[in-house]
Amino acid sequence: MRQIFICEVGPRDGLQNAHHLMPTEAKKAWIASMAAAGIEEIEVGSFVPPKLIPAMADTAEIVAFAIGIPNLKVVALAPNVRGFERAVAAGAQKITFPVSASRAHSLANVRMTPEQMADEVRKCVELRGKEGPQIEAGVATAFGCTMQGEVPEDDVVRLAVMLAESGVDCVALADTVGYANPAQIRRLFKRVKAEIGDKLEAAHLHNTRGLGLANALAAYEEGVRHFDSSMGGLGGCPFAPGASGNVVTEDLVFMFESMGVRTGVDFEKLMAARKLLVAGIPDEPVYGHTPMAGLPKGFRAAA
Ligand code: COA
Ligand code: ZN
Repeated sequence: MRQIFICEVGPRDGLQNAHHLMPTEAKKAWIASMAAAGIEEIEVGSFVPPKLIPAMADTAEIVAFAIGIPNLKVVALAPNVRGFERAVAAGAQKITFPVSASRAHSLANVRMTPEQMADEVRKCVELRGKEGPQIEAGVATAFGCTMQGEVPEDDVVRLAVMLAESGVDCVALADTVGYANPAQIRRLFKRVKAEIGDKLEAAHLHNTRGLGLANALAAYEEGVRHFDSSMGGLGGCPFAPGASGNVVTEDLVFMFESMGVRTGVDFEKLMAARKLLVAGIPDEPVYGHTPMAGLPKGFRAAA
């Protein structure tokens, strides 16, 4: 039984911000290899206008492929009702929406205010009916914004409550531009949890200032068990100036496994998947301390 749950967001958050395109067949091989390493949830792409983000143009084909992989939950991002309908048609099992707490980022990213975007999510919850995919709302720029600066915690709490009340299955808090520190993580997760309870699920953290793992540990200590991360530390929002990569999946797995917390992920197989990432997008820099240094001698995965 795993004790924490990793959602690999590299194929979406990572590739949307890469300088190079990964060919569709390479994406499929990479996704399959990550699932084979024990990753149970992968955000495989987004249903945004292809003109806006060409790297996501093949998402329908990627979803169709990925839903055939056993024991994998296939997640896709949608920015509006149109994207939600495309994601449902493709067969996505979970659909995640970026709802920025920063008005400036929300307008730049989805051309809607946070309230308009929350309303868009509510429409999708109604459209879904009883049988549809799981719906997640990710509160983006929850810890600060490069465009607006400070994002008041009250705004984040209010938005999270609005989203939870609109009927989404789960809410995530996202540090889109890597501004968070561990004290802030603990404070805000605690506050939001007090309002919406178990609907608060994932921490989506970026490593822009090197605090990704420290923040993940702080969230864990606050009871968070779902983490988004990106293989090779790729990632960043093209519409948030200064955003860079997510917390590195390989390092997150190493941290938790070496602490005795089961991730369900096999590190050696994860390294094999990393080779496919590099082969699929050879000119893109990839990051990660553990992959470069290697596992410590005598390392034992969590029993
Ligand atoms: N998928 C495909 N096409 C879409 C679409 C979607 N989800 N949503 C809108 N379109 C099309 C419209 O049909 C329209 O096409 P047309 O020009 O041929 O008529 C065109 O795109 C513009 O539609 P509009 O509703 O005016 O959208 P917009 O230009 O105001 O952009 C978003 C709004 C939400 C679609 C866009 O800002 C977006 O995709 N943002 C997400 C960015 C992102 O992925 N950020 C990183 C993840 S956090
Ligand atoms: Zn992100």
